[in-house]
Amino acid sequence: MTPSANIKEIASLVEDANRILSITGAGISADSGLPTYRGVGGLYSQGLTEEGLPIETALSHRMFLERPAISWKYIAQIEQTCRGKKPNTGHYFFAELEKSGKRVCILTQNVDGFHHQAGSTNVIDIHGHIYDIVCSHCRFRCRVESYSELDIPPSCPRCRKILRPDVVLFDEMLPVAKLARLEKELEKGFDLVFSIGTTSFFPYIAQPVIAAAKNGIPTVEINPDRTAISPIVRIKIDGKAAETLRKVEDQWKEKH
Ligand code: OAD
Repeated sequence: MTPSANIKEIASLVEDANRILSITGAGISADSGLPTYRGVGGLYSQGLTEEGLPIETALSHRMFLERPAISWKYIAQIEQTCRGKKPNTGHYFFAELEKSGKRVCILTQNVDGFHHQAGSTNVIDIHGHIYDIVCSHCRFRCRVESYSELDIPPSCPRCRKILRPDVVLFDEMLPVAKLARLEKELEKGFDLVFSIGTTSFFPYIAQPVIAAAKNGIPTVEINPDRTAISPIVRIKIDGKAAETLRKVEDQWKEKH
């Protein structure tokens, strides 16, 4: 199929679908100016940290317990990249579909909160939200707008212990309540599954696409690169998320 035939096909699938799952990763927010984790210019492609550590070690549960200042330094760098950035057409497209009456579930690995900001209400941010700050000791919790007012590492206003962002660090379990929500959504089933801007490195990200493809449910991948799921999706678009979804939205609006 030609690229424009593919876009038309996706728009038709969107129009016919009632329940849509959109799995997103760093690539969708790359179009808002955020770096990805892997690949060229990615946060993990710069070799060792200043402390001579792999970034996965600096951002691990163990490091947070033993030397929280190191973990916080790199968490704050990630936050710095989100500052002043905004959701893009890709994020808004799924919020728009939800407003049109479709049941849209977003499973995102991104901690930037852009899907919420764009207006999607059923977002499973499986790796957390960088602006939710919590105390593991006294359960203090707050949402900040940025880290600009925080001392890094910040301490709890109630118990003075070190606070942490409510994100999943390396070696940590996924949040049980969010996994249960995902499980429920998958049980209800979907009639269209997108995978956008992710390497599908984690099994819980690849698996829903693999299962949908096995069951004959249409699957669409949008990613300029090839990934582990590229050979099994029904439609693969070798393009950028925001631009591709803007084209799909234009086609869908013509039909709608
Ligand atoms: P990655 O950095 O692994 O992958 C980003 C993907 O986006 C790559 O496949 C790129 O080819 C693709 N990409 C780049 N620009 C794009 C664009 N404009 N449009 C569409 N795709 C584009 O990021 P994730 O797969 O999201 O976890 O990584 C998952 C997790 O790895 C993160 O949540 C983080 C990290 O370890 C934790 O911190 C627990």
